[in-house]
Amino acid sequence: MSASTFPIARGAYVGIRQDAVAQDYWTLDRLRAEGYKIEKWDGRRRFVILDNNGRIIALFAGQPENANDWDEVTRQASEAMSEARPRCTFTSARLVHARGNYPTQGVGSSFGGGSKRPGPIKNTVRNARVLADLCKHPAIRRIAGFGSVMLATYAPRIHLKIRRRLRLLYERYPTLRLNFDNSLYPAAQFNFGPNAVCFEHTDFANDPINWCHITALGRYDPTQGGHIILLDLRLAVEFPPGASILIPSGVARHANVTIRPGEIRQAFTQFCAGGLLRWVDAGFQSLKEFGERDPQGRAQFDAELDEKTRTSVRFFSRWDELLEDLREAAKPNPTFSDLPEL
Ligand SMILES: [Fe+2]
Repeated sequence: MSASTFPIARGAYVGIRQDAVAQDYWTLDRLRAEGYKIEKWDGRRRFVILDNNGRIIALFAGQPENANDWDEVTRQASEAMSEARPRCTFTSARLVHARGNYPTQGVGSSFGGGSKRPGPIKNTVRNARVLADLCKHPAIRRIAGFGSVMLATYAPRIHLKIRRRLRLLYERYPTLRLNFDNSLYPAAQFNFGPNAVCFEHTDFANDPINWCHITALGRYDPTQGGHIILLDLRLAVEFPPGASILIPSGVARHANVTIRPGEIRQAFTQFCAGGLLRWVDAGFQSLKEFGERDPQGRAQFDAELDEKTRTSVRFFSRWDELLEDLREAAKPNPTFSDLPEL
């Protein structure tokens, strides 16, 4: 497949909302019956998925090299989530939702969900305290940092794009808080489980030319369930607890294979709402306000949207240019000639 076929909305700030899909669980039998390729993965060996133009569209990051204590780190993260779960209260919409039937809470800066401007993901005072404690947990912090480093290392163009915009956003709104001092991602989601297994979905409000970071946690046999399914690729890959992956969740349809009775699956994820980046590009205002205050500026912004959509996939580095991209990204003022919008 080519990244240019991803359902990227005009301007490349969000994905195109998918038609409603049946909220059915995927099983290994169903995958086999529908002819999906099922890949084994030990959750350690790192590999990338390239599109047919050689662009890196997904990363199976695994775990940090030379981290002998990673099993212990992820076990502690899982335990911290298990302990946090009963301390949270969940609205029904956060227990049974379009992505699955498991309790979930988000934390950090986002956009959407009815809000018309960037702001903290809303929560009760009590939940916010529990989530803040989770973000302070050294094991969760290490996992978050690993995801961010993987984004910088395998998608340096994307990392640079969001870093530039988020820096402007945080300068403008000093009350927006970072979840982690070692992660660029502005928001995180704790999928508590014990059955954090997703139906088919796309997270279309996310920046479509970006990866969300997902770390699977818990106790389950990864050869029997918990796989990540990438439906557009007709591929399922084993996803052992403790392993991390980075996928363009805003545009790539994804789901998980069910786990077996008595098993526990949780997930920690990090993401970036595309609306945050659009807000910065539009001069810290909604497009409506932009048009009212500066019709000419808005017209210019609109005139560039089609070109932005067309060229957006260039933010995914080509595998054969990754080292060059990393060298450029490390310079004080990096520029990419094929990315004027960086
Ligand atoms: Fe997702």
